[in-house]
Amino acid sequence: MICNAVTNAVFARQTIRAYKPEQITDEMLETLMHAAKMAPSGRNKQPCHVRFVQNGAMLHDMHIDFKNLVGWDTPAYTRSDTNPFYHNAPTFVFIYADGDCAMDAGIMAENICIAAEGMGLGTCIVGSAGALFNDEAGKKWNEKLDVPRAYRYQIGVCVGYPDEKPEPKPRFDERIRVIR
Ligand SMILES: Cc1cc2nc3c(=O)[nH]c(=O)nc-3n(C[C@H](O)[C@H](O)[C@H](O)COP(=O)(O)O)c2cc1C
Repeated sequence: MICNAVTNAVFARQTIRAYKPEQITDEMLETLMHAAKMAPSGRNKQPCHVRFVQNGAMLHDMHIDFKNLVGWDTPAYTRSDTNPFYHNAPTFVFIYADGDCAMDAGIMAENICIAAEGMGLGTCIVGSAGALFNDEAGKKWNEKLDVPRAYRYQIGVCVGYPDEKPEPKPRFDERIRVIR
């Protein structure tokens, strides 16, 4: 295989659900915002509105609303029994788009993850929070985030300095094949 800075970042990225409390630097933040902006999009519509939130109190209040909606007795899967949806990351990226642009949002999320990996940061992609932000109960947050009214939360990304090193998750090798 060919290993260089880009492929190494792709191969090394893994989901991080424990973060150091230190905030990422403004230079890192700017780099991630640029990585988001440079993501490809269908017909170059650039349909996503993105908010990088670095406000722990706001994220905590969102977490309370999220739990009040989905229930506090949540399963251990993705550590949602102990962690808030943002896994206590100091930066959480909200990616909104109109209904049929989930693909564009997902591609942007991965751009952010790979760029973050390249800077030694950890990330976790978060879909579950959509339960709040796409519900009536979450509308007030969309207004606080200043997102156009018709837009929906598509995906989010936790970003911060990793405070764990999980075992890499196994992959289904046989699902990716060459046909010649
Ligand atoms: C579309 C999508 C939604 C996800 N939603 C969540 C989530 O809500 N909470 C969470 O902790 N992890 C979430 N994840 C992370 C996955 O659980 C993780 O990527 C998967 O277990 C593979 O692990 P890896 O990223 O370390 O390779 C999500 C990942 C994707 C791609």
